[in-house]
Amino acid sequence: MQFEARVSLLGIFAFLLFKLFSSRARKANVPVVGSSAFFGYKTAFKMLTSYKQTLVEGHAKYGKSPFQVPGMRAWVVYVGRALFEDLRKSRDDTLSFQEEINDSVSIEWTMGKSVAYNTWHNVIVRKQMTQQLGIAFPLVYDELCHAFDDGFPGPGDEWTELHHVHDVIQQIVCRGANRLFVGLPLCRHPEYTRISRAFTGSVAKAGFLIAAFPKFLKPFVAKYFSGAPAAIAGFEPFIIPIIEERRRRAAEMGDEWQANKPFDLIQWLMDTAPEGEQQNPSELTLRIIGINFAAVHTSSMTFTHAFYWLAARPECVPALREDVAAAVTEHGWTKAGLNQMYKIDSFLKESMRHTGIATAIMGRKAVKNVTFSDGTQIPAGAHVAINLWSIHHDPEIYPNPDEFDPFRFSRKVEQGEGAVKHAFTTASSDFLLWGGGAHVCAGRNFASMLLKSMLAHIVTYYDVQFPNGAQRPPNLEFGSNVIPNPKATILVRRRQA
Ligand code: HEM
Repeated sequence: MQFEARVSLLGIFAFLLFKLFSSRARKANVPVVGSSAFFGYKTAFKMLTSYKQTLVEGHAKYGKSPFQVPGMRAWVVYVGRALFEDLRKSRDDTLSFQEEINDSVSIEWTMGKSVAYNTWHNVIVRKQMTQQLGIAFPLVYDELCHAFDDGFPGPGDEWTELHHVHDVIQQIVCRGANRLFVGLPLCRHPEYTRISRAFTGSVAKAGFLIAAFPKFLKPFVAKYFSGAPAAIAGFEPFIIPIIEERRRRAAEMGDEWQANKPFDLIQWLMDTAPEGEQQNPSELTLRIIGINFAAVHTSSMTFTHAFYWLAARPECVPALREDVAAAVTEHGWTKAGLNQMYKIDSFLKESMRHTGIATAIMGRKAVKNVTFSDGTQIPAGAHVAINLWSIHHDPEIYPNPDEFDPFRFSRKVEQGEGAVKHAFTTASSDFLLWGGGAHVCAGRNFASMLLKSMLAHIVTYYDVQFPNGAQRPPNLEFGSNVIPNPKATILVRRRQA
């Protein structure tokens, strides 16, 4: 039997077993939106394509108070802005991020227990990588320029149709990010970038499948029916020889190596890995994969959403071009220049507010009974998340919330309200796509550097538009994911120098 057919059969079997074996997580003492019929599955199925409407309905009925909805995996309590602080201050010993991620995408069973629970690599992204972004900028921007030259039309070309826009963007993001993760020449290797981009899909599918089985069957499913081991094995021949070669050279060269060693994530991981088995090249490879997993799809989907807005709203382009030109005249194409581009910053932030990649965020699993500051009791085992969509579309926070207003945030900066408060990278109770608290996105400064460079580069060097004045194509929604339309075509032309 074909692998795909086996996976489908197993999916159905898993679903039946799930019903038999799992007790749906206990409900909290908050009102229910949707129906409890058929163990809540009636609503759970509906939520696959109408997640946003359900959140809007809950918000309209219960205002800012929590409500709960049955999902495929479990019931989830959705909270509003008033309880953001409760979630932000929580730690993994009360409302656990790690347990939630494990429950939803089965990291323990796809990438292993040590990546799931011993996340020392996240600290490198949060601290070391973030602190080095000024030095990293020229490398990353160089890679982005090459990737744009390869994926976009060249000088002298006429208007060119860019099909499969998201694939083109994903390839550019993957190369830019991997220039810092693994360096040259690997970041350009077609097979490496292909498996890096495909990995998230294979592991997410495997994780979803494994999540549907009771605990005692997970090891069996993970071993025989998951695409994750093959996906991981695909990475090893690329990364392990680099690690071994660097260790050999470090031993031979001593101090000279220390003074001249490569500037990339592989090296930071090698230098920082705890003693013992974490130094093992296979373990280090898993960390590179884990960071690619967190970085590439999130950043490329976010950028594609913004790119569609750019093509749909050509009247914004002159102001964006001026913003870039002023910064580049003063600082050149540098990180300092990028920091000055506050209209580019605002455009991306507004795209993320209006068309973020998720409608709910900050998922947490209660590992003990918790009482929120408003008295809501969350029993151990329950799942909680923030109703991002309703907060990002609340007219009290964002006037005319359904309008895409690209300079919404830069106007506030011009009015003296503070550049940091309104910056793209600032996570807050009003802007939730980076999450918040102990697990707030560790790579958001790097993501901002990538995405701002890409938008600044496009407005400076290209004209873009939808064919025949077409409108921005509708997004696809699957569960809480908001996916940029995969079928859109954009016309692109290189501007004359
Ligand atoms: C626009 C792109 C991105 C978005 C929207 C995004 C969003 C998020 C969110 C929502 C979380 C969970 C926060 C929480 O629940 O409180 C997260 C965590 C994380 N992100 Fe990002 N992310 C993006 C790009 C990146 C990039 C480029 C990297 C790596 C360079 C990265 C690395 C991480 C890591 C390591 C964590 C886990 C942090 C921890 O557990 O301490 N992300 N991200």
